[in-house]
Amino acid sequence: YTGAITIPVVINIIESSPGKVTDAQINSQIAILNEDFNNNNSRTSSIPSEFAVAVADIDITFTRGAVIRKTSSVSSWGTNDAMKFASQGGIDATDTANNLNIWVCEIGGGILGYAQFPGGASATDGVVIGTDFFGETNAGGIYGHGRTATHEVGHWLNLRHIWGDGRCNRDDFVADTPTSDAPNYNCPSYPTVNCRSTDMTMNYMDYVQDDCMYMFTNGQNDRMRALFVSGGPREGFVN
Ligand code: ARG
Ligand code: ZN
Ligand code: CA
Repeated sequence: YTGAITIPVVINIIESSPGKVTDAQINSQIAILNEDFNNNNSRTSSIPSEFAVAVADIDITFTRGAVIRKTSSVSSWGTNDAMKFASQGGIDATDTANNLNIWVCEIGGGILGYAQFPGGASATDGVVIGTDFFGETNAGGIYGHGRTATHEVGHWLNLRHIWGDGRCNRDDFVADTPTSDAPNYNCPSYPTVNCRSTDMTMNYMDYVQDDCMYMFTNGQNDRMRALFVSGGPREGFVN
């Protein structure tokens, strides 16, 4: 699918006190998603020439939709999707065929965020982001610049980690991301070579710190956009 794609974002906030997740935090996250999915990250100029040919403008626009808030004293939701159900103290998903649902809550366990791949149950469709890692925050430290959502929305749009979750012999099903051995962290120096090729450590689907990830590739663009064709799992966003 090559046409315009607009994704309304429903933000489900489960917070310890009303308004703890600020409006500015919400707006910064929407702005960051728009930067990253339109190749407007301010660090694109740092992309090495070896990878410049692969850089993609995904051309997806995210718009701020409903913000739904709930106060809760739960400080460690974990990753079992409880935050997605009112019956379990969370907030039910809103029309997942036509909205990206983001749940913002205290996940705990040092987990920044997690996502559901396309094709799963609609009641749990969307991404979960830890409160400190949602938008621009001081509390998030090196993960306080909103790139957890970019990474998780990548998964929600069917992207795998660039190392394929399995050493040099596993694939992410994307031809123009070089084979890699394992996640990279912090801010690796260039070139970082593994599996006889230079790792694309600056890809949003690696595990580096927020300031050191700033590109998607053409192959990743194809994989994401394939979901929006008629009959595809994300077709609702282009009707
Ligand atoms: N560990 C998480 C995952 O695999 C998110 C990693 C996000 N990285 C970041 N720099 N914010 O889904
Ligand atoms: Zn991931
Ligand atoms: Ca690859």
